[in-house]
Amino acid sequence: MIKRILITGGAGFIGSHVVRLFVTKYPEYQIINLDALTYAGNLENLKDVEKFNNYFFERVNILDADAIANVFDKHSITDVIHLAAESHVDRSILSPLDFVYTNIIGTVNLLNVAKTKWANNLSNHTFYHVSTDEVYGALGDTGFFTETTSYQPNSPYSASKASSDHFVRAYAETYHLQTKISNCSNNYGPNHFPEKLIPLFINNIIAKKPLPVYGDGKYTRDWLFVKDHSVAIDTVFHKGAINETYNIGGFNEWKNIDLVKLLCKLMDEKLGRQTGESEQLITYVKDRPGHDRRYAIDATKINTELGWKPSVTFEEGLSLTIDWYLQNTEWLQHVTSGSYQNYYNEMYANR
Ligand code: NAD
Ligand code: TYD
Repeated sequence: MIKRILITGGAGFIGSHVVRLFVTKYPEYQIINLDALTYAGNLENLKDVEKFNNYFFERVNILDADAIANVFDKHSITDVIHLAAESHVDRSILSPLDFVYTNIIGTVNLLNVAKTKWANNLSNHTFYHVSTDEVYGALGDTGFFTETTSYQPNSPYSASKASSDHFVRAYAETYHLQTKISNCSNNYGPNHFPEKLIPLFINNIIAKKPLPVYGDGKYTRDWLFVKDHSVAIDTVFHKGAINETYNIGGFNEWKNIDLVKLLCKLMDEKLGRQTGESEQLITYVKDRPGHDRRYAIDATKINTELGWKPSVTFEEGLSLTIDWYLQNTEWLQHVTSGSYQNYYNEMYANR
């Protein structure tokens, strides 16, 4: 059976890399990118993919169950890789209900449509849910999150993602939907919206604006290059066992302040600035409420069972990322000015 895969959130940061990988690597598949184009959705991320005839775009909000069902019918969807979400912790603190709607209700809408449309042959179809390590809560100075760590989400974002994970599990148990879940650590790379730490700080360093480090700066995150996450998603989708969970990470922990100093150093070199110039932009600001102290993924299961490992070191990935932002000033300018949101109208008005 030819795969016709619905990838939700494909205009976002990670989704756009996953769409590109699948469209180019699997010309025999049809890839349907379903995205509402919220502030985080940017079709300019996929300019190079639009010309492929196995790529389709559907502007649909996952809160609209009828519209999802129409897309399933129109494209005879065989599988789902679900990435659409509200994804920024700070926004979730300001507006938790947006996260309840998209991340929980939107996911349940997708599950319901998949269950109904695939009812006659459930075993031929997979619903793959892309989630985060933040569902596990916060670690102290030692230890790692494994697939059996209990869920203890601390932010409205992670609580909504945890809830969506539980619904996916429940649909596997109750309705025998074939599911997969992966929980990944923090991603970085090209096309990252400049509200998250790394792209925001790259943008601010270019503009010589303050770098707002929350609290004491000793919060720790485990960073993975977005293209390595995309390959991991491909691996789990094709080789992962049904109804299993896989943690994805690169054993790459950094305290925020150390990461920011490395970023400043690399950018000073690339911008031809004096050593130490960008570090002077570091400004300690009020902490994020409920700020998780440390995340660290134990990726042994995906390493050993599926043979996936990251392809780049952090220094390589960060250098590639900075180069991308320095070479794609138009993308950055469109995103910071908001004009990227016109792209859909310009591109799709006559389609
Ligand atoms: P993102 O915010 O960059 O993109 C989200 C995409 O979803 C956007 O294109 C947006 O338009 C779309 N979207 C949002 N609400 C929608 C709705 N109601 N209907 C349809 N589309 C909607 O997010 P990202 O960083 O690319 O994350 C993608 C997924 O990966 C999310 O599920 C996130 O929880 C998960 N994840 C992210 C990270 C990370 O570090 N960014 C790490 C682990 C897991
Ligand atoms: P972020 O990129 O928002 O990802 P997450 O909160 O999902 O891990 O933040 C990464 C870390 O950087 C987190 O500890 C919060 C911190 N941070 C700052 O110190 N300053 C900032 O301006 C931002 C956006 C984040």
